[in-house]
Amino acid sequence: MKVLFVCLGNICRSPTAEGVFRQRLREAGMDGRVTVDSAGTAAWHVGKGPDPRTCRAALRRGYDLSPLRARQVAAEDYRRFDLMLAMDHDNLLRLKEFRPDGARAELDLFLGRYGLGRGVVPDPYHGGAEGFEQVLDLIEAGCDALISEIKGRL
Ligand code: 4NP
Repeated sequence: MKVLFVCLGNICRSPTAEGVFRQRLREAGMDGRVTVDSAGTAAWHVGKGPDPRTCRAALRRGYDLSPLRARQVAAEDYRRFDLMLAMDHDNLLRLKEFRPDGARAELDLFLGRYGLGRGVVPDPYHGGAEGFEQVLDLIEAGCDALISEIKGRL
């Protein structure tokens, strides 16, 4: 099972999802059976680590995002991953627009797939510190639901 989390910049929401999900997989003893990565629909931050506010908020909850580096979604991702999970409607729209021939990945809204909250993880980049906490709250809930789904599929 291969899962790719997708947001806009790949420096706030999708690296948070990658870090939280990796930890949840380790805790569930499933890390050897699931591949996880994250990417952005935009290229502005390619090669950079996650936003310092994202790193600080995540570390307070025990998630170390410092090894992660931003990259942009590539055509190959659609062939390699089973599931590409977008953080908001705009990300999902972009994923559908760029979908190449031969794609096999299922494209979906991460939280919307599980009927969580309003279905989206709001972009925290231009807001205050509370936005980064909200991202973590939503992503932790989404990762728990995704773990349950994968347990049922493996
Ligand atoms: P992300 O957040 O999509 O969660 O990584 C953003 C990061 C950067 C920008 C927008 C959103 N930006 O405009 O540079």
